[in-house]
Amino acid sequence: MKNLHFLLAALCVLPGAIAIAQPKTAVQKADSVLRLMTLEEKIGQLHQLSSDFATGPITPDGDKQVQVRRGEIGSMLNLMGAARTRQLQTLAMQSRLKIPLLFGQDIIHGFRTTFPIPLAEAASWDLQAIEQTARIAAIEASAAGIHWIFAPMVDIGRDPRWGRVMEGAGEDPFLGSKIAVARVKGLQGKGFGNTDAVLACLKHFAAYGAAVGGRDYNSVDMSERMLWETYLPPFKAAIEAGAATVMNSFNDLNGIPATANALLQQDILKGKWKFSGFVVSDWGSVSEQTIHGYAKDTMQAAMQAILAGNDMDMEGYAYHKHLATLVKMGAVPMARVDDAVRRILIKKFELGLFEDPYKFSNEQREKEQYDNPLHKQIAREMATKSIVLLKNDTVQSRPILPLQRHQKIALIGPLVKSQKDNLGFWSFDFDDDSVRLVSLYKGMQNKLGSSTSMLYAKGCNLNDTDTSGFAEAMAVAMQADVVVMQVGEARDMTGEAKSKSNIQLPGMQEALIKAIHRTGKPMVVLISAGRPLIFNWTADYVPAIMYTWWLGMEAGNAMADVLFGDYNPSGKLPMSFPRTEGQIPIYYNYYNTGRPAQNDDQRFYVSAYIDLPNSPKFPFGYGLSYARFAYGEMQLSKQQLKGNEILQVTVAVTNKSNVAGEEVAQLYIRDLVGSVVRPVKELKHFRKIMLQPGETKELKFVVSTNDLSFYNSQLQYTWEAGEFDIMIGGNSRDVQTKRIYWNK
Ligand code: BGC
Repeated sequence: MKNLHFLLAALCVLPGAIAIAQPKTAVQKADSVLRLMTLEEKIGQLHQLSSDFATGPITPDGDKQVQVRRGEIGSMLNLMGAARTRQLQTLAMQSRLKIPLLFGQDIIHGFRTTFPIPLAEAASWDLQAIEQTARIAAIEASAAGIHWIFAPMVDIGRDPRWGRVMEGAGEDPFLGSKIAVARVKGLQGKGFGNTDAVLACLKHFAAYGAAVGGRDYNSVDMSERMLWETYLPPFKAAIEAGAATVMNSFNDLNGIPATANALLQQDILKGKWKFSGFVVSDWGSVSEQTIHGYAKDTMQAAMQAILAGNDMDMEGYAYHKHLATLVKMGAVPMARVDDAVRRILIKKFELGLFEDPYKFSNEQREKEQYDNPLHKQIAREMATKSIVLLKNDTVQSRPILPLQRHQKIALIGPLVKSQKDNLGFWSFDFDDDSVRLVSLYKGMQNKLGSSTSMLYAKGCNLNDTDTSGFAEAMAVAMQADVVVMQVGEARDMTGEAKSKSNIQLPGMQEALIKAIHRTGKPMVVLISAGRPLIFNWTADYVPAIMYTWWLGMEAGNAMADVLFGDYNPSGKLPMSFPRTEGQIPIYYNYYNTGRPAQNDDQRFYVSAYIDLPNSPKFPFGYGLSYARFAYGEMQLSKQQLKGNEILQVTVAVTNKSNVAGEEVAQLYIRDLVGSVVRPVKELKHFRKIMLQPGETKELKFVVSTNDLSFYNSQLQYTWEAGEFDIMIGGNSRDVQTKRIYWNK
């Protein structure tokens, strides 16, 4: 409270200053400051600018340093480091009211320590591990002066053409909600006031993932039903878990840009959900209303955004330039401006920035967190957990994987020696990257000893038509006992503004796989990418495939751990993998239709393609292990239930192999008849368990009417009596089913 006391005392000499009793809560404290503010100072709090680098198109206007000193900027993004943030905060302390700046940053999968991309982490289905990596990101970022992290992205991703699927948790609202909560808890830690607890920011509100055609920034046309059923649940869950802020989105939703969408921000978020934090626009999205054709000028854009509930204007000057006039004209009530400012000040108070504006800018702490070996170790573990084993055929009476140490290994492919590509989009470049980033080649050397001579050939580039390296790669393969290939995407091929119409393995990579396959050598293909790719030939003919996503700085060590069985893979796909782009959007929880195809071969007057099966290449929830798991027959405590009773579902899972391994058991429900049609399956519970060789564990799931609830024809969240299928399995396709009846 030191500074605030000083501030209040100092202001008593200013005309109009009011002597107030010492305020107690953050709300009271915010109000006490609000009362001292001029309209211009209030607008300053709603104005956020980018500083040292850009994550979008910059709008150059004015001298930012001068603006900070004048109290015209409340928050900045894209500047990092204890020294740099301290420097800017010093300028803010020269402003009349000395209101501290809030520093925000996109820290999407780790800061100094780069973890797997969020979609990869989602494949772990390990909520504790996911919370832990978010925690570490917050510890490291807060030590570099960052107060506010623009994550988690909780957009549902049913369209792998959309480059931003990499930032989310995949296609499922249930899994997505659990992961959203884990990430918020991780970022916000033990609560604001602690120097390593940062504000989380849920984004992008809302429905951004459903951009037409998977094209970034595109329009979204969606029923309210789908919005509530599929796209809003992760936001709702994370708000209930205490997420401090929300970012809206670039898209229009049913013709109204999200930034100016009162249904989303006022009615749902701040109304129904009673969200007490603040909403920031996406980069320039307030002004972009004019380009959408929803505002004739930026003045109208500013008015519409603030009235619709957008509190802060990110990297735009719409509020800065027009809000004062709008208030003076009576077009925007002062009460709404006050509400927006209050929401932001409350967070600044909660973080403790009024007490000590430099609290997070601590060089000593920053240094300590610079290369934390524990964080590195956790990055490696998280990367191993994120890998999904898609295929592991038996060749010459043993599965290809795990590899054996005595085998002569050829490493082939354009990513084998690459370091930065493993980091993926939304990661930081630090100076000494080449030392810290572990390629597959390095990881294999670390595993086998650097004296081990591994064969290597690049074979081709990531994305051109050159096949001149094939002959050498084939010759190298011929000398080996087994070939390990790493193929996939360059770091900038998936991410924001990285939508693709063709999501096949880029360039000549699949041709290289075919060429190596022709050598007849046993082979494993590792696919490192930010999104589900299409690789049908590889999936059909290559005996062993691991989907390794972008695994972060410890990628190579983690891949080596899994290749040699030091970690037994346990990841399960958080998105369906399509056979062709023509199947997109593709997801497991579809409606049945009036003419469903009973199987992939049925094409006659049913809802199917005449040239393609309906099923995905790899289904949601799918992933293998080096262990083999067998599910016993599921037991239900009852078949007829009533009212608020609960159903106990028991299933025994046995490890039938001689290696320990983890399995993610998944429980799905289908409501057979509803007042609106219901999906053929919906994930409702899952459990990740470790089983020793030969061990059996009995899993118990408790199903309640909460698991049966959905948004009915009136969009009320409730359950309806009737028949339900309960399904259990190791993925969304291979399940056993039992039917129950649940009466009111
Ligand atoms: C992205 C946001 C990001 C912001 C700031 C925008 O282009 O959509 O997710 O937080 O830039 O970098």
